[in-house]
Amino acid sequence: MLILVTGGAGYIGSHTVKALRQAGHSPLVLDDFSSGRRAVVEDTLRVPFVEGRVGDGALVRSLLTGDHPACAGQRVEAVIHFAGRSIVGESWQRPAEYYGSNVSEALSLLQAVVEVGAAAASGPAPFIFSSSCAVYGLPRTLTLTEDHPLEPINPYGRSKRMVEELIRDLALAHGLPSIILRYFNAAGADPDGEIGEVHDPETHLIPRVLDAMTGRSPFLQIFGDDFDTPDGTGIRDYTHVCDLAEAHLLAVNRLLLRRAAPAADGAPVPFRTLVYNLGTGQGASVQEVIEAAKAVTGRGLLAHVAPRRGGDPPRLVACADRARGELGWEPRRSDLPTILADAWRWHQALPGR
Ligand code: UFG
Repeated sequence: MLILVTGGAGYIGSHTVKALRQAGHSPLVLDDFSSGRRAVVEDTLRVPFVEGRVGDGALVRSLLTGDHPACAGQRVEAVIHFAGRSIVGESWQRPAEYYGSNVSEALSLLQAVVEVGAAAASGPAPFIFSSSCAVYGLPRTLTLTEDHPLEPINPYGRSKRMVEELIRDLALAHGLPSIILRYFNAAGADPDGEIGEVHDPETHLIPRVLDAMTGRSPFLQIFGDDFDTPDGTGIRDYTHVCDLAEAHLLAVNRLLLRRAAPAADGAPVPFRTLVYNLGTGQGASVQEVIEAAKAVTGRGLLAHVAPRRGGDPPRLVACADRARGELGWEPRRSDLPTILADAWRWHQALPGR
């Protein structure tokens, strides 16, 4: 089955592309390579890809209908939308870029999906959206369920919430079968060592810890040790990127089963968008990640306490019972030792590490 994966050259996108292919699907990547890497799709995964923007309506329509040469005559049966910008700090410096890329371009993509779907006997293609725990803002409860109020505290989180709202409204109006996946902290790498995390600049904790261990950076900054947590450092719910990829497969399957053809009079059947948190329910502090990394790598590192980063909540931990119960999702590699072992293998293979 042909599945359009926007942002398929990025971190979570590329792991999902690999999982889709292993499950017998045909992923087709749309990426502008602004942050994703061409070599990942061209040389490593060797999947069909198109270089272009999600906001290019004519290009996207030609892909959805199967008229584009990259589709080899097949229609797109589902869309997984990863493309977008994802660095919280940067979203404060360049909000217009975040709203443009994450919201305007997503709206253009959604419009194309419902327009093409309106002319198809089976209705719009199922749509899976990459959202984030950043939509919740400051947690009011120890673990976050999907029903926690959505009060994002930065432009990145607000852009994700806006797209969630667009999807819900289009699903009701046009019968768009849709699932919103809210990731917590994606981490780790493909256990085969083929693909992994590369961001430029790298802002995430685990690669930075490993960089400090290999000497690529002189030390690690711990952003705050005075949070209201047991050891004073920030707690996050680290989830293996391959477990996240697996959740996308389950989401596609669920939507394909629930896809409803338009009614006999052609009227779309409203769809109530499904929302799932993807996390383990187990938080780990910055200190715990450092200790686990030392145990896995056998290396030490220099760490200095630095001021808190603006807008970092003390603790973000998912309640993912709904994804387990309804999607049958079971994180299998999301314990810290496995995450760190996979990340370490990948990290050591990177040039310059
Ligand atoms: N941290 C450090 N030092 C570093 C990097 C991070 O102490 O060099 C700390 C952070 O303060 C935080 C934890 O490590 O407590 C995790 O930080 P990351 O930057 O790895 O991840 P975030 O939790 O900030 O960001 C993640 C996703 C975002 C998403 C956000 C929601 O990467 O896309 O969660 O808050 F928006």
